[in-house]
Amino acid sequence: MTTPLTRTDCAALDAADPLAPLRDQFTLPEGVIYLDGNSLGVLPKATPARVAEVVQQEWGVGLIRSWNTAGWIDLPARIGDKIARLVGAGRGELVAADSTSINLFKVLSAAIAIAREDNPGRRVILSERSNFPTDLYIAQSLARQHGMELVLAASEEIAARITNDVAVLMITQVNYRTGLLHDMVALTAKAHAVGALAVWDLAHSAGALPVDLTGADADFAVGCGYKYLNGGPGSPAFVWAHPRHASRFWQPLSGWMGHAAPFTFDTDYRPAEGISRYLCGTPSAVAMSALECGVDTLLAAEPLGGMAALRAKSLALSGLFLAQVQERCAAHGLPSVSPAEASRRGSQVSLACPGRGYAVMQALIARGVIGDFRAGDGSPQEPDLLRFGFTPLYTRYVDVFDAVTALAAVLDSGEWQQARFNQKAAVT
Ligand SMILES: Cc1ncc(COP(=O)(O)O)c(C=O)c1O
Repeated sequence: MTTPLTRTDCAALDAADPLAPLRDQFTLPEGVIYLDGNSLGVLPKATPARVAEVVQQEWGVGLIRSWNTAGWIDLPARIGDKIARLVGAGRGELVAADSTSINLFKVLSAAIAIAREDNPGRRVILSERSNFPTDLYIAQSLARQHGMELVLAASEEIAARITNDVAVLMITQVNYRTGLLHDMVALTAKAHAVGALAVWDLAHSAGALPVDLTGADADFAVGCGYKYLNGGPGSPAFVWAHPRHASRFWQPLSGWMGHAAPFTFDTDYRPAEGISRYLCGTPSAVAMSALECGVDTLLAAEPLGGMAALRAKSLALSGLFLAQVQERCAAHGLPSVSPAEASRRGSQVSLACPGRGYAVMQALIARGVIGDFRAGDGSPQEPDLLRFGFTPLYTRYVDVFDAVTALAAVLDSGEWQQARFNQKAAVT
């Protein structure tokens, strides 16, 4: 058995970490260890000044001229090209727009139409039972609309359930509860082998680990701006369509920004070529500018090894957390529901904590360690979870060590029993 690391060892890892300077890009409150960047990323130092500039200069002085002079109209494509570099997409293939839910509606609609045109009679949308609810709700609505069925499989049964009745496979690459990283290459290939299309939600993978949409030959993807991309609360999301599909279908939210020539004000809708048709209404220049600052914090890692280097550090952090919890919280039985095998783990670790999870997390937050709580359904298969995200741009090895120290203290002292035992929804 290897000897567990001490705090001094962790400090030495930080001192030797070539990615450590990236932390200086962020404003992090004193006395807080933030392990929730998988829910809401932290504030980049550049964002307040940039947002102020957009508001005071571009809006306040430039007024409507700024759509051209400040390039507001190009923001969805310009930021889209930057995000594309993080997820293995080409230039001009991805746009920043709307929310993840709305973008999922667009691409799932397109995938259903294309899959059923190619294979009439297909009725199944296949997803993961513990996929994030909004993904399931959007799929349920489209299933009703198109006379289809949403079939849900357990995480480990998805591959086997990809049979030739499936029209579309829709999966979140990293499961929001367990942090399980699905094999995008293998699942997409299996979907294609039965004539189905593969739609990927990258909410917990874009900016967290290397993603290669082109290499995986995926069909469509959406992702979130406010988690690992640090775009701020309610930040615009993004949408990608493989170029072989992008111009094939009129996505249903046919707003004027997706028109081939919006400023001709034609009576009739004529979709733009390519991914631009996946835009709908006017983009928020303020929110887009904040998103761009967030995306830039990830691109700053490119000279230091980019997403591959960030991935290596994220796994080192989550591996350290798992080992420390096992060593120092063993008496309290907090089994990890996240894959022990690093290659199957996203950038988070979830610990099963049935019954008292909410109170434990509240007590931890009171000590300045911010993770989050995710309620289960009470069954052993889906327990209440303490969820910890490891964002390598700004999380240090000592933060992980200190977070486990706080967790052990909360459990050893029993102070969690004083925390408000009110399992109200944690908004993230
Ligand atoms: C997998 C996944 N998809 C989508 C969302 C949220 O979508 P939206 O930004 O539309 O609320 C989340 C939020 O946590 C998520 O985890």
